[in-house]
Amino acid sequence: MRVDVVTIFPAFFDVLEVSLLGRARGAGLLDVRVHDLRDHTTDRHRTVDDTPYGGGAGMVMKPEPWGLALDGIVADAPSRPTFIFPSPAGELFTQATARELSSAPHLVFGCGRYEGIDERVFTYASTLGDVRLMSLGDYVLNGGEVASMAMIEAIGRLIPGVVGNPESLVEESHEDGLLEYPSYTKPATWRDYEVPDVLLSGHHGRVAEWRHAQRVERTRERRPDLLPPDPTA
Ligand code: ADE
Repeated sequence: MRVDVVTIFPAFFDVLEVSLLGRARGAGLLDVRVHDLRDHTTDRHRTVDDTPYGGGAGMVMKPEPWGLALDGIVADAPSRPTFIFPSPAGELFTQATARELSSAPHLVFGCGRYEGIDERVFTYASTLGDVRLMSLGDYVLNGGEVASMAMIEAIGRLIPGVVGNPESLVEESHEDGLLEYPSYTKPATWRDYEVPDVLLSGHHGRVAEWRHAQRVERTRERRPDLLPPDPTA
């Protein structure tokens, strides 16, 4: 998968060099290219923002550098890209979104700062590819960099070959609408805390039953919004 990122803080993405995604890049599974938006400014101060028309607080990112940055990426693109603009005003990014996007050949992340990007940039981008405004959740970050990083990791680990053992992707939280069951490893007793007996029993059927019950109970306790409505309630 090809991933381009447009940002005024390219250094944020240095961490993509390490860990699992670093290996995926090394193995040629993930081709990530980070672009500095300021390289597409034309004034001495490399200005990327200006005051909002209509008034209001904060600054808005100017359209011209964005237009040039996106043109440069598309000129060198393998196919029509999907543009993802992280925004607290976007649709919710979920595991289902990550799975859907993991089969895209080319993603372009546009990281906004300040009060956001001039709306015409999204309209222009939609002439070049699909455009998705994506929110990580109902809270506000300072810009799209951390959100893009989270999405790149969530999407990247679903590309075949990136995670060594594909089975580990099946049983995790959010893959089938329930939270993950609790995990334990050796020793069986640690500071007087015991591992649940059923996990030491060697009885696969009972282990599977217990894990499923734990998933349902945890989901009911922590994330009741994920469960279907109770018809008796
Ligand atoms: N940018 C600022 N806040 C954000 C959020 N919650 N999700 C995605 N991008 C953001």
